[in-house]
Amino acid sequence: MKRFLPAVVAVLVLVALAVVLRDGDRPPERHVPLGAAVSTRWLDSDARYRRVIARNFDSVTPENELKMAYTQPRRGRYDFGPADRVVDEARLRGKEVRGHTLVWHGQIPRWVTRGGLGKRALARVMREHIATVVRRYRGKVHEWDVVNEALEDFGGWRPSVWYRTLGPGYVEQAFQAAHAADPSARLYYNDNLGRDRAAKWLAIRRLVVYLKRQGVPIHGVGIQNHVTTASYPGREEMETNLRLLEKLGVDVQITEMDVTTSQGPSEDALGLQARAYRDAAEACAAVRACKRFTVWGVADQFSWRGGHERPLLFDSHYRRKPAYAPLREALGGSG
Ligand code: XIL
Repeated sequence: MKRFLPAVVAVLVLVALAVVLRDGDRPPERHVPLGAAVSTRWLDSDARYRRVIARNFDSVTPENELKMAYTQPRRGRYDFGPADRVVDEARLRGKEVRGHTLVWHGQIPRWVTRGGLGKRALARVMREHIATVVRRYRGKVHEWDVVNEALEDFGGWRPSVWYRTLGPGYVEQAFQAAHAADPSARLYYNDNLGRDRAAKWLAIRRLVVYLKRQGVPIHGVGIQNHVTTASYPGREEMETNLRLLEKLGVDVQITEMDVTTSQGPSEDALGLQARAYRDAAEACAAVRACKRFTVWGVADQFSWRGGHERPLLFDSHYRRKPAYAPLREALGGSG
């Protein structure tokens, strides 16, 4: 018996080694957090709204409260009341907050859009705005959509007040200002896919390449994904393009998904919707750089796209719709 002992030990060691190596090869279990855009409009008035968010989502994005029209309605006069409300509620419930958004052509105050601010003045306004907002939420908001929708549907620069006054350099300046205000924040460029998705994917990639080459502190790209059941990026398109972005050295996220149902065949609209959500979620889960998946609202009746479109994961009675479970499953369970 003693003779065989070394051989037995050797076999056991080999088996143990094989098990360890195989486990080492297996990718660790992945759970992509699920977020929702939330609004102060219902946070205080609707307890069910609060409860559904608390129970079903891992993170929140203030739907409007961090946009410039809210945070700096008058020049130099900041109002953080509504944003604080969302951030405090989220932290109370242990949810992360996405900061949306610092520089955008939409929902900016009239004193900015009216024009009349020259290049130097507007550049200063932008930098100070970013510094003030990002600093205020340092340690509470760890990721920001620094610039939103700088590109048009077919890939050209959008002629926003920022672009017209400051030129394309405004994007770089915005990221630098955000980085200086909170060096540990994850900084995102956020955009939609427009009417020509191929052109837009390409334009977003080119922007990232350009910014990276300049040494701009950009860490991620957010894809909004406001779609319809009649037209949405399928699993393959989404995965391929997220991967191409990953190769450029940035993280990615789905940041604002909703799926309207009035276009396309009306029978089984909610089934088609579930598929659109699942496709995007599977693509995100398959790409290591995809860090979060956010839907743009909680329950249908409050959606910016209109309640009749039924675009979200909960119906107007706060019941889970067919899209919820497969989406969660695709993202790797409810964590
Ligand atoms: C929308 C909000 O949902 C609406 O409540 C508001 O009236 C307009 O803006 N892309 C974005 C989001 O980046 O900020 C927009 O949110 C939807 C489109």
